[in-house]
Amino acid sequence: MVEIADGVHWVGAVDWDIRDFHGYITHRGTTYNSYLVVGDRVALVDGVKSRFYEEWVRHIEEYVGLGEIDYLVSNHAEPDHSGTIARLHREAPQAEIVASPRGKATLEKYYGALPVTTIKERPTLDLGGKTLSFVEVPMAHWPDSMVSYIPEDRVLLSNDAFGQHLASSQRFDDQVDQGVLWQEATAYYANILMPLRAAVRRALKQLEGVPVEVIAPSHGVVWRGSPGAIVEGYSKWVDGYSQPKVVVAYDTMWGSTRELAYAIAEGVAQGGVDCRVYCLRETHRSDVVTEVLEAKAVLVGSPALNNHVYPTVAGFLAYLRGLKPYGKLGAAFGSLGWSGGAVRFVEEQLKLGGLELLEGAPQCSFKPTAEEWREAYEFGLGVARRVLEDSGT
Ligand code: FEO
Repeated sequence: MVEIADGVHWVGAVDWDIRDFHGYITHRGTTYNSYLVVGDRVALVDGVKSRFYEEWVRHIEEYVGLGEIDYLVSNHAEPDHSGTIARLHREAPQAEIVASPRGKATLEKYYGALPVTTIKERPTLDLGGKTLSFVEVPMAHWPDSMVSYIPEDRVLLSNDAFGQHLASSQRFDDQVDQGVLWQEATAYYANILMPLRAAVRRALKQLEGVPVEVIAPSHGVVWRGSPGAIVEGYSKWVDGYSQPKVVVAYDTMWGSTRELAYAIAEGVAQGGVDCRVYCLRETHRSDVVTEVLEAKAVLVGSPALNNHVYPTVAGFLAYLRGLKPYGKLGAAFGSLGWSGGAVRFVEEQLKLGGLELLEGAPQCSFKPTAEEWREAYEFGLGVARRVLEDSGT
């Protein structure tokens, strides 16, 4: 039994096992947070993923019977939060479902006709001693997304925003390892919210001047110790904050593209800039993207396979392009084999992803000669110079 504030209880579910969240690797599982807000009347905010229905109900019934729930608020219709709402409503038909207008449409698309009141009709719920007030935050994460605010307790139920995919037996930010917490909060922003920065910025703007002491997202732990810190983190990320850091992501067939990757990395490091190198066969694309979030440059290497890009690199590029990294430099490199085909493709994809392409992609036929190794190293030195210039150091 966990109290977020007086009369506000966590009644969610912990998913210790999930390791793939729509293409994003979740090394530490996740939680689906649901909150019970108890005044004279009772509101349940957000559901959980469908397979956690029994666990969710067990947690709710620690406080109230299902027949005592007056409102069922759906901040967001993605099934990790809405997957149990229709089923609960069958068992608690007295509960009035409340959602944004687009939330109503999306819930009905997933679950068929449901009696949903929209927040246009009910912008606030007076629970008697507690108020829930709703604000639409479209595209943070889906068009229907909204947040719920409890002014009496200064608690923001922020749904996806400020979340982390982090399963734990603790419920609060000040109870978990800070390195792990920030690693997961960063990975979450990079892999989910990075392409939505304009919408997230608008949402942050809406938050300005609103007194918030607790931010309770729908995934991971509740920010009660440092709610300001995560808002500050998001403010940096939506503005495209980067460090003087370079990410090199590559795959290799016979080791030649790896030789180029390592030569570039040596050059970058010699130039005084931090460099992280990832083989895309060994490291999941979503972990690389987490590193990309605060990097200034992303260098992508691929050998030619059948005159085209290597499949692991193609997958990474598709993922990266969708995430629309902002304000990054990019470059391609790789072994051409005897005819090439990959480097050009990588360059096109980086450009389409909005990265500013650096000239002089290191390439070699088959295996790099000593001179080609040196050129790759020099290229790395040049990247470091440019990164430092752009960083103003
Ligand atoms: Fe956690 Fe957009 O759902």
